[in-house]
Amino acid sequence: MDRRAIGVFDSGLGGLTAVKKLMEVMPREDIIYFGDTGRVPYGGRSRETIIKYAGQDIEFLRKFNIKAVVAACGTVSTNGLEEISGGFDFPVMGVLGPAASAAARMTKTGRIGIIGTAASIRSGAYERRLMELLPGCRIFSRACPLLVPVIEEGRIRKGDRLLSLVADEYLSYFDDKDIDTLIMGCTHYPIIADTIAERLGGVNLIDPGGETAKELSGFLRERGLLTDSEKGSCRFYVSDSVEGFAEKADIFLQQRIEGQVSRVSIDEL
Ligand code: DGL
Repeated sequence: MDRRAIGVFDSGLGGLTAVKKLMEVMPREDIIYFGDTGRVPYGGRSRETIIKYAGQDIEFLRKFNIKAVVAACGTVSTNGLEEISGGFDFPVMGVLGPAASAAARMTKTGRIGIIGTAASIRSGAYERRLMELLPGCRIFSRACPLLVPVIEEGRIRKGDRLLSLVADEYLSYFDDKDIDTLIMGCTHYPIIADTIAERLGGVNLIDPGGETAKELSGFLRERGLLTDSEKGSCRFYVSDSVEGFAEKADIFLQQRIEGQVSRVSIDEL
């Protein structure tokens, strides 16, 4: 038994897709979330900058008594996470492996789509992992750089005009690709899963944060590291305005988190 918390981080709101699933699969665990909202988005940045930010994010979470960290960010998970994750005395789990494994399991036709930030798609990491898992599969990738800013702006409701326009611009790429599975390779995207599902119709959608939450649960269980507490709690830290974050997070998590959010200074990271 281990009562230490699970740390989760992302550049902004995206990691909440992992938090939501973590709360579902391990409701007794304490969660500490860090959203680097002062520096979002990460997806247009260089690999060096992404690695630097990710290292600072993990260092911030390390100050709490944590037993594991989820890098709930596709951009970080595909851009050098493995280079820094070994330097900590707790496991750091990214979303790449769990999402790719789920896609390989789910596809019937072997035709898989990937959407992600520019940095994630440029890295080719999802393709490499899928090719190892399912040699011969056909992969179609599309970077969607404007989706994260649209989501961070809170334009997440199905039918929102701006969201529909931007989603259509990117997802029309798949119209003639005949994919049966799509990896939503950025953790922000499951927030708009209903819009994506409607536009693509009948395609299996892979939620990277959700898959990672399930994998972490198994990992902790096997090692006897689950908590024996009655009920878990959640604390949220952001590097920019608390209000803006809490408002959007409430909508997504379908619960009020206002009193549980604190601001930290980026200079302290
Ligand atoms: N949610 C993140 C991801 O999974 C980060 C998006 C961004 O900051 O550009 O890629």
